[in-house]
Amino acid sequence: MPYRVFVTRHLTHEAEKKLNAFCDPEYWPEDTPPPSNVLLEKTRTADGIICLLTDPIDAHIINQAKNLKIISQVAVGVDNIDLAAATEKGIPVGHTPDLLTDATADMAFTLILAAARRLGEAINYAREGHWQTWGLTTLLGQSVHGANLGIIGMGRIGQAVAKRARGFDMTIQYTSRSPKPAIEKAFGATRLPLDELLKTSDIISLHVPLTEETHKLIGKAQFKIMPSHAILVNTARGGVVDTSALVKALKTDQIGYAALDVTDPEPLPASHELYQRPNALIVPHIGSATHTARNAISLLAVDNLIAGLQGLPLLKSPNQSKIIG
Ligand code: DGY
Repeated sequence: MPYRVFVTRHLTHEAEKKLNAFCDPEYWPEDTPPPSNVLLEKTRTADGIICLLTDPIDAHIINQAKNLKIISQVAVGVDNIDLAAATEKGIPVGHTPDLLTDATADMAFTLILAAARRLGEAINYAREGHWQTWGLTTLLGQSVHGANLGIIGMGRIGQAVAKRARGFDMTIQYTSRSPKPAIEKAFGATRLPLDELLKTSDIISLHVPLTEETHKLIGKAQFKIMPSHAILVNTARGGVVDTSALVKALKTDQIGYAALDVTDPEPLPASHELYQRPNALIVPHIGSATHTARNAISLLAVDNLIAGLQGLPLLKSPNQSKIIG
């Protein structure tokens, strides 16, 4: 009996080639996610699905599934999947950590540099014809070199950001559930309570998964204690930051700048006031968007799916790898 596999978007060419050699999957043909009724219908009869972080695989969908043997996510974060419901039904969930760590850390650092040096404003300034002369005090930004970097969540991506920050002689402080002596030694990093880190960091970079515990971790109270020049960088999940509190903090100069690869809501509508803020820089969730990383995670998702269909242990599952990245 051939496997019924539903894939919620096209994958990379190489990953599709591998998957097509194993089974005859159905790919959702659009660039946007399948509507919830389609997702429900396809999952109801599928043996396996490959999904993206934009596809809500909730308890209702999972409980309706008759034959589902594997949910294979093409991402490290799995906050769109009800893991408890999947576990309850004995359906393994796969994800794709490690392979996107460097690409995402590169993006976090890109945003750190771009925010500190006001790159978005500078590009517009030149493009819009304001560049009349070399201005001694034009578009002054902040030093990244030697700044205090606060890393919230010292998992794989947090550590990869710390590695990059060392090259900029930054002082690294971090929050984490448990101390990480090896990381402290390697990067000269100091573990601090969240409030202490927020008060003393020039730049704060978020690297925690979205969970009940981290939902709106950074909100009104947290913006209040951050230095007025602080830069907030988010390449984790939009929901970790309270968006309306962020807008207020930027408007009232409570913090200096926000550079976001992820937003809440996501996508952020073009009419959203955050786009109007000169001290906000927003890119459309492209942290892992390199050819290498996206191909690697697509291939891993296919491998997880094939293993799950055959009742074999998955190569990577969020139950084994608890930290984002
Ligand atoms: C993930 O994998 O969770 C990222 O957000 C997508 O690159």
